[in-house]
Amino acid sequence: MYFATIIVLVNLLCGVIADEHNHIYNDGEEVVLWMNTVGPYHNRQETYAYFSLPFCVGEKRGIGHYHETLSEALQGVELEFSGYDINYKANTEPTVICMVELNDEKVKAFTYAVKNDYWYQMYIDGLPIWGKVGEKEDKKFSIYTHKRFDIGYNGQHIVDINLTTEKKELLTPGAKIKFTYEVNWKPSPVKFADRFDKYLDPNFFQHRIHWFSIFNSFMMVIFLVGLVSMILMRTLRKDYARYSKDEEMDDMERDLGDEYGWKQVHGDVFRSPSHALFFSALVGTGYQLTSVVLAVIIFAILGELYTERGSLLSTAIFVYAATSPINGYFGGSLYARLGGKVWIRQMLASAFLVPVFVCGTAFFINFIAIYYHASRAIPFGTMVAVTCICIFVILPLTLVGTVVGRNLDGQPDYPCRVNAVPRPIPEKRWFMEPGIIILLGGVLPFGSIFIEMYFIFTSFWAYKIYYVYGFMLLVFCILMIVTVCVTIVCTYFLLNAEDYRWQWTSFLSAASTSLYVYAYSFYYFFFKTKMYGLFQTAFYFGYMALFSGALGIICGTVGYIGTTVFVRKIYSNVKID
Ligand SMILES: *[C@@H]1O[C@H](CO)[C@@H](O)[C@H](O)[C@H]1NC(C)=O
Repeated sequence: MYFATIIVLVNLLCGVIADEHNHIYNDGEEVVLWMNTVGPYHNRQETYAYFSLPFCVGEKRGIGHYHETLSEALQGVELEFSGYDINYKANTEPTVICMVELNDEKVKAFTYAVKNDYWYQMYIDGLPIWGKVGEKEDKKFSIYTHKRFDIGYNGQHIVDINLTTEKKELLTPGAKIKFTYEVNWKPSPVKFADRFDKYLDPNFFQHRIHWFSIFNSFMMVIFLVGLVSMILMRTLRKDYARYSKDEEMDDMERDLGDEYGWKQVHGDVFRSPSHALFFSALVGTGYQLTSVVLAVIIFAILGELYTERGSLLSTAIFVYAATSPINGYFGGSLYARLGGKVWIRQMLASAFLVPVFVCGTAFFINFIAIYYHASRAIPFGTMVAVTCICIFVILPLTLVGTVVGRNLDGQPDYPCRVNAVPRPIPEKRWFMEPGIIILLGGVLPFGSIFIEMYFIFTSFWAYKIYYVYGFMLLVFCILMIVTVCVTIVCTYFLLNAEDYRWQWTSFLSAASTSLYVYAYSFYYFFFKTKMYGLFQTAFYFGYMALFSGALGIICGTVGYIGTTVFVRKIYSNVKID
């Protein structure tokens, strides 16, 4: 049954490959111009269907066999046939497509669009084309009425398209506007495989700053790893020396001696953290998200995913569903080791933590999108599809993972026994309080990624196509190493202050990176973009919160894993009397 569901899922997600043409054309064959969306230039996500503006459709009819894939529906792709008659390698002289008679209402709609720098997007053979709706010159608004397509072909492939918009007409009520177009075909030396290269921006993404920041973070890693190992080696050796000397001391000396530090809490250090259910759900989710990020980055490196509409999102959804057992396994086994009893509730929390937050945010933004009639409004069928994926794919796979995890890896095997009575936590200096450690923990990890964040944000919120996934992979690895180092140091300080609540502290001190990322997104919004309007603002801050949250869960989990290894190591080596 699972198998069938997965096949349906794959078909749903990869429909685009089966449905789109094979990109091969014969002379004179019909070439379809799809109208996609129109919207303000500065608000990339605020898009509307092209024909929501009173443009007119050409005479040619009857092609609409296109059907959307899931990820396209989620991304607000809304292709409609333009009615333009374009044939492969057949030039078209300037031709009238249709006429619009402007009344007050239409003038108002077009004026609003021109005033707000609306531009539209179209597709030919999967290649995006952009054009401006109109132009404003000292309070006069005019609209472009002529579209010239220069299409470059190479053999049987379309490899290059330039759109030129010409012939401004003033927007005045009563005017009759003729929309015209022409098509010129030219041979082009561009290879089919390279046809997306002109949309990439190497000057931006391979800028010196980018290289420099990677180099910088790399130096930080070397420095941190060196520092951590040096401090820990020294301190641990001293501690071991002191503790082993203990055995030779008599009782009197031992009582008066400076017995303090992490060894004191050996009877509590493996005590289960509070809210074990929520904690293991977070850690399980963190394992899953980390594998999703790694898998998607690697797919993106191998597969040039930016050349297919929506394929990155499809891959992410597919990988997320497929990695659900990871979530169940690690969350479930951790919960069992922590002595949790209500494992079904834990599994549900694990399985639905991310879907609930993502769908909740999307639902909220959907309300605004529907109010705006934006093309981002998610259709009902798509919502049903997503719910089905959650219930019929993610949930059962998580269940399988949980059962396997509880049985294979559910027995606690701590190096120290846990005392029956918890030890009181002594007073300590203010900067040793978990809250302060947590806040400071995120600074260095954030420092190692914030330049990369700039590039990622710019590719999502502005019109750059992110393609340097190798950089991303490198930065991700650097982030993981920095996070682990910083978390270990934080935990060491905490344990030395005889505070044994290290599980949550290690998780949160790594996860606090996301606070800084979210704060940075505010800076980015106000100083690097010109977004405006309720819809775009809600969209920005909603999805940025999700992004930061997911990053926090990933960092928290990685920090916690690293610290667990560290804590087991130091406590398995102490001799306990
Ligand atoms: C499109 O424009 C670019 C840059 O102006 C030019 O190099 C290219 O030849 C044009 N392509 C076609 C098909 O006209």
